[in-house]
Amino acid sequence: MKQLENNRFHWLVTGCAGFIGSNLVETLLNCGQTVTGLDNFSTGFQHNLDQVQKSVSRESWKNFTFIEGDIRNAKTCTTAVKNADFVLHQAALGSVPRSIEDPLTTNANNITGFLNMLDAARQSGVKRFVYAASSSTYGDHPGLPKTEEIIDKPLSPYAVTKYVNELYAEVFASTYGMRSIGLRYFNVFGRRQDPKGAYAAVIPLWFSALIQGSDLFINGDGETSRDFCYIDNCVQANLLSCLALEKAANQVYNVAFGYFDRLVFFG
Ligand SMILES: NC(=O)c1ccc[n+]([C@@H]2O[C@H](COP(=O)([O-])OP(=O)(O)OC[C@H]3O[C@@H](n4cnc5c(N)ncnc54)[C@H](O)[C@@H]3O)[C@@H](O)[C@H]2O)c1
Repeated sequence: MKQLENNRFHWLVTGCAGFIGSNLVETLLNCGQTVTGLDNFSTGFQHNLDQVQKSVSRESWKNFTFIEGDIRNAKTCTTAVKNADFVLHQAALGSVPRSIEDPLTTNANNITGFLNMLDAARQSGVKRFVYAASSSTYGDHPGLPKTEEIIDKPLSPYAVTKYVNELYAEVFASTYGMRSIGLRYFNVFGRRQDPKGAYAAVIPLWFSALIQGSDLFINGDGETSRDFCYIDNCVQANLLSCLALEKAANQVYNVAFGYFDRLVFFG
């Protein structure tokens, strides 16, 4: 990415020990950037950071600082964001079923934690705050393709939290002049996605089953369709969101493959 070759920025990646966060750290370090990572290891792993360390040069790894801490603690957020030009906020508790089982913990991480991070970023004057939004915000709206302006009622506590993130970002833009971008991820998949645990996503579950020679399960009646987005595209969307022109800010964008569009296009 040309803009990164010529400029060295300081990035804060929250949720850096998770699937998407660790891929962001890896790409940024390989582009010669300075990165601070923040994680509390609630669903992320030290081995993800170890893999990143192995895949980047020794020199690049020296540009990475890790803070073990929790975004539910406002002071931790203030410390982590110090000197950052850009924030890529990924830390949250994912999974719709998890949020149905424990809405309070999901709320604390995804709303209180988000607000702590957003406010710390505002006070430190970051250039842009890019955050992981979610396709779950479309709720029960049946329309296809999904266009950013048309959403409907949320179907889970998790979806509520991700929508509230968008509302807070909008209000911080209008009230404080902050620059943010929300990325509505659609089922991101790729390296370092956890195949284990009750809340694992379908693609790592299937690959894990294929490697072990066991059966693959599809829930539902076979009529459901989903959009899946490869991790490299998700990483690119994050970096571009920080570097894109001013007029791109304060909006939300789908980060998806666009399967429905392609079906129509190819007939
Ligand atoms: N993977 C997807 O398909 C997908 C789809 C839509 C939205 N998202 C969102 O993208 C983001 C990243 O998802 P992921 O798939 O990489 O999940 P992940 O669970 O692998 O990563 C999340 C990371 O955040 C950390 N974390 C959670 N709560 C924290 C807290 N209170 N303080 C500090 N760190 C905390 C976890 O330890 C973990 O390392 C999340 O916000 C998620 O809601 C992901």
